[in-house]
Amino acid sequence: MPGSVVLIAGEPGVGKSTLLLQASAMIAKDKQPVGYISGEESINQVKLRAERLNINGEGLLFLSEADIAIIIEHLEEISPKLVVIDSIQTMYLEDISGMPGSVSQVRECTSRIMRWAKENDVPVLLAGHVTKDGSIAGPGTLEHIVDVVLYFEGEPFSSYRVLRGIKNRFGSTNEVGLFEMGNSGLVEVDNPSQALLSRHTDATTGSVVVSTLEGSRPLLVELQALTTTTSFTLPRRIANGVDFNRLLLIIAVLTKRAGLRLFNQDVIVNVTGGLRLSEPAIDLGIALAIASSFSDRVPIPRSAVFGEIGLNGEIRTVPQVERRIAEAARLGLKTCLIPKLPQKPVLNHVDIQLLEANSLGEALRLGLTRKTKREIIGGE
Ligand code: TYD
Ligand code: MG
Repeated sequence: MPGSVVLIAGEPGVGKSTLLLQASAMIAKDKQPVGYISGEESINQVKLRAERLNINGEGLLFLSEADIAIIIEHLEEISPKLVVIDSIQTMYLEDISGMPGSVSQVRECTSRIMRWAKENDVPVLLAGHVTKDGSIAGPGTLEHIVDVVLYFEGEPFSSYRVLRGIKNRFGSTNEVGLFEMGNSGLVEVDNPSQALLSRHTDATTGSVVVSTLEGSRPLLVELQALTTTTSFTLPRRIANGVDFNRLLLIIAVLTKRAGLRLFNQDVIVNVTGGLRLSEPAIDLGIALAIASSFSDRVPIPRSAVFGEIGLNGEIRTVPQVERRIAEAARLGLKTCLIPKLPQKPVLNHVDIQLLEANSLGEALRLGLTRKTKREIIGGE
């Protein structure tokens, strides 16, 4: 959007500079000059990165500078069609007190850039660091000033990255982009469900496929759980990629409403692919994975599951049921364990068996198959 200021926020090392450089190169290729300003790296460092990404630099105007007043002078000269500033925490204005990255500097620099962007009708992308606890380093006020806030996220040790809309003055925030970080930069993942399920092997205890929504896009993701008898007084619960408090709630409901004796069990839940899932529709998947591991019963082969769990052990319906089912069918799954629906879902040419459950107990009966024979060697 001409004149807009977009903040791309993420932890250091997640790939913001890479994303911004690749995006700049794509726009510059259409003969639209892009001003790429780095306050963190020298021109040589940016060039090295560009080479690694197979970017020849055509149409890209690099500047290594952190003084906003000087940057704006340069921008006036080159009249770019897009400006990238990496990162806002390294920028400063001479006449403002405080170090770069301080609340006053970040706020004033952003306002100054905003004014220039609006006067010249040029979109500006700002990179911003967030700390581990998720707040944007320095000021939270930054989010209120800019027009659009996007979070760029990924788990350490995973190559997947998600770009997620948090605030958007011009449209929906309900969209996500999924990328994979490779040797030559970020590549968009065209068929995310397939990519995320590629390593899923069927019929293992504790492993469940959930049909979740990332923004408006349905996505199949593998959830794993492992329960083991604890050697501590207080059993441990570990949540990787799901909300910790949600996990505690689901364990409590499994204990109280489905009779699973989890009070002396360590419980670990993991989302494979390094994604973070936050919607309640994955509740039933978490519960099924835990129950599967605990009872040594495998989930139904080639199945997906979704549904929200209430405190009474009831399974609640969730938004966009049809799209979730269709995504499971598209990936060749045969069965979908879902909440009891008030009316039949409208599914065109979708060949999949639906198992509807009212309660958690019913869901566990429907969703898990026979007890597996324990391996003699290497078992618990
Ligand atoms: P970077 O874009 O510098 O992160 P940020 O600007 O958010 O701090 O990316 C840093 C990481 O990405 C770094 O650990 C190396 C990795 N990377 C790749 O794996 N492949 C690549 O092609 C590039 C350029 C970086
Ligand atoms: Mg960077």
